[in-house]
Amino acid sequence: MPPEILRSHQFVQDAISIITEDARKAFEARNEFRIALSGGSTPKPVFEALAKLSLDWNRIIVTFSDERCVPPTDEQSNYLMACRTLLDHVPIPPQNVLRIKGELAPAEAAREYENNLKELSPNHIYSHDLLLLGMGADGHTASLFPGTSALKVADCLVVENYVPQLDVWRVTFTYPLIHAAQRVLFLVSSQGKDEMLKQVFSTQSDYPCSHVSPSPGKVTWLLGV
Ligand code: 6PG
Repeated sequence: MPPEILRSHQFVQDAISIITEDARKAFEARNEFRIALSGGSTPKPVFEALAKLSLDWNRIIVTFSDERCVPPTDEQSNYLMACRTLLDHVPIPPQNVLRIKGELAPAEAAREYENNLKELSPNHIYSHDLLLLGMGADGHTASLFPGTSALKVADCLVVENYVPQLDVWRVTFTYPLIHAAQRVLFLVSSQGKDEMLKQVFSTQSDYPCSHVSPSPGKVTWLLGV
């Protein structure tokens, strides 16, 4: 299914509409909403707006599309960003938030996270109702960076990934886990990313975010203009 591309002048509101609609459908279908939060800076206003809604957080399971290999108190931590903008402001039961333990050795953190997901979904790949992703100016998404080993992983759901461009380790969802989602929502504020977006939407694109193609799920690109 071709990606749905939405150019938005009301980025936060449109993101919230998609999230709440997917939550409504998931509650109706399975009495639970499984959402993966993306990292970086773009999602911050969306998370802050989400925190103001009265959702049934008892039925929401939060995971993270990727994490930096740092402790949860580190300014680089995606978990810390999510706490400051959302999780510290809503009545979500602690057991509903699956944190990637960035303080552990990368491989250990990845293995533990994969096992957590397999415990929640032992018979088939954990399927997010909504999986948020961002896009870097180099076309990376989650922590699937161009030229890195995680791009080729087909037999794991979560892996450690060394990113030579940044000389850092990350823990990231792999394509198999991303592709099991019902919907992947790219949140991209186009500042400085117009050129990359043009390339990503061109047919020959080989950038990591271009290879995101859930099935039977769908991809929505919400572009803040
Ligand atoms: C991360 C993210 C990463 C991010 C993009 C966009 O851990 O940094 O997972 O994939 O979504 O780099 O980041 P910005 O929203 O800050 O541009």
